[in-house]
Amino acid sequence: MRQYSTSYTIGFSAAVCVVCSLLVSSAAVGLRARQLQNIELDRKRNVLMVAGFIEPTEIPSAEQIDALFERIEQVVVDRVTGEETDISPDGFDQQVVASDLDMSQRAPANAAGVRRLPDYVLVYKVYEDDRLDQVVIPIEGMGLWSTLYGFLSLDSDGRTIRGITFYEHAETPGLGGEIDNPRWRDRWEGRLAYDDQWEPRIEVIKGRAGPPQEDPFHVDGLSGATITARGVGHLVQFWLGENGLGPYLAQLRERGELGEDGE
Ligand SMILES: Cc1cc2nc3c(=O)[nH]c(=O)nc-3n(C[C@H](O)[C@H](O)[C@H](O)COP(=O)(O)O)c2cc1C
Repeated sequence: MRQYSTSYTIGFSAAVCVVCSLLVSSAAVGLRARQLQNIELDRKRNVLMVAGFIEPTEIPSAEQIDALFERIEQVVVDRVTGEETDISPDGFDQQVVASDLDMSQRAPANAAGVRRLPDYVLVYKVYEDDRLDQVVIPIEGMGLWSTLYGFLSLDSDGRTIRGITFYEHAETPGLGGEIDNPRWRDRWEGRLAYDDQWEPRIEVIKGRAGPPQEDPFHVDGLSGATITARGVGHLVQFWLGENGLGPYLAQLRERGELGEDGE
């Protein structure tokens, strides 16, 4: 067998490393735009799912998503004042804003495990016949192992939950991961997020809740995953509250876009 010198072996290995790293980095850079586009499509697919436009198993094309989004207005909201801004929703990344020190604040201690509060939040107004039919808000907070990112949809009465979904988390499949189970997510539908004083009241209990008409503020826990399930209850309450999107939802009610007048 032919013997190569040590310097030849080192030089050859270095050349292979350089070529491979160039290939990997150019693939990463070249595919970045497509990755961002796919992240955006996935976010929109989740909004459509929580709004009840598509089934959880459905994977619509980009064109179908755009067509369904014709009925949805994306609005960037000032979290503190609750005002709608004219910031463009295009390319708005909620997670980037929340982790940017110039565009977020340290959160006060809270049960939801939220550490930073974004100054701006992207919400989705779903219209039917030119009337606001539901509002989809982003929600996030701690489960057992990970931060859970999702959406909550509120009915035009501003109080009734239409749906909940999570698009990113790292809870244990079969335990905390059951927050993705459509049967558990269906348990939220028709329950009340707020009480008569517009205080966030919905919570996840250990065990089974009654039907929504009789037990409107409780949602079934997840057996073997009480910590994750409770976390979901805490984070939903947090985002409905004063440090989350409470001020914005109150403004929508004052303007008559949501609430009994808006029905
Ligand atoms: C390997 C492993 C993974 C677990 N994953 C989760 C989880 O994702 N979410 C959760 O709430 N509990 C998880 N648990 C269970 C928690 O430690 C805890 O026992 C549980 O939340 C209590 O719920 P229970 O009172 O309904 O049994 C896990 C436990 C083990 C051993």
